[in-house]
Amino acid sequence: MTLRIALSKGRIFDDTLPLLAAADIHPAESPETSRKLILPSTRGDVEFLIVRASDVATYVQHGGADLGVVGKDVLLEHGGDGLVEPIDLGIAKCKLMVCGPKGMDLSKNTRLRIATKYTHCARKHFAATGRQVEIIKLYGSMELAPLTGLADAIVDVVDTGNTLKANGLEALEHVASSSARLVVNRVSMKVRHDEIAPIIERMRHAVVQTS
Ligand code: ATP
Ligand code: PRP
Repeated sequence: MTLRIALSKGRIFDDTLPLLAAADIHPAESPETSRKLILPSTRGDVEFLIVRASDVATYVQHGGADLGVVGKDVLLEHGGDGLVEPIDLGIAKCKLMVCGPKGMDLSKNTRLRIATKYTHCARKHFAATGRQVEIIKLYGSMELAPLTGLADAIVDVVDTGNTLKANGLEALEHVASSSARLVVNRVSMKVRHDEIAPIIERMRHAVVQTS
């Protein structure tokens, strides 16, 4: 049976390629030019599933894919049930932050409205610090929410801070640090250990060499 690796297009796919190459796994087509959602590799025993970044953990959890590469931010939000997380790949590094208009005081004693796609992480962060919030679920362009009055602040990923700056916002509180992780379906890890273990070891070696 073919081993399936779930990846999202863009930075995760691009940054994972050199690490997979160390395990002699190469896509036979590019997800940017192909319309196929199952992409063959140059090996007959491995193929790629192209899914949304936020769906990778779900595919691997339920066995739709044996392996996947997913941001820690997504794993924290998903919960990570049914997954083994053997390697921090050290790619797609970013921080999950509470962000809002410059100089905003998040400690003021009102019920803040927080827009985010990370509803679980946001709820947990504010509950841990004893603050009542109303969570508004969004799927993207979170920075628009405080600019339009939809929310007081957002919880989103920040890397360079350029997106925040361009929209007159700033990072106010750290929620979690993130980098992409290799995840493996718990059952596949046992049943297909002989195929998966060498891939993990070769990717681990490549990560150590590049760090
Ligand atoms: P979806 O399409 O499911 O909404 P997405 O748009 O967040 O997901 P990407 O932008 O490809 O998908 O991000 C994939 C992962 O890369 C994120 O889960 C996060 O861990 C990380 N990431 C997101 N933005 C950045 C960034 N600007 N710099 C570095 N890493 C990032
Ligand atoms: C992410 C995230 C922020 C931005 C943060 O968006 O939702 O909007 O990156 O990165 P920055 O701090 O470096 O500006 P997206 O996936 O669209 O990122 P991209 O613009 O890098 O593609």
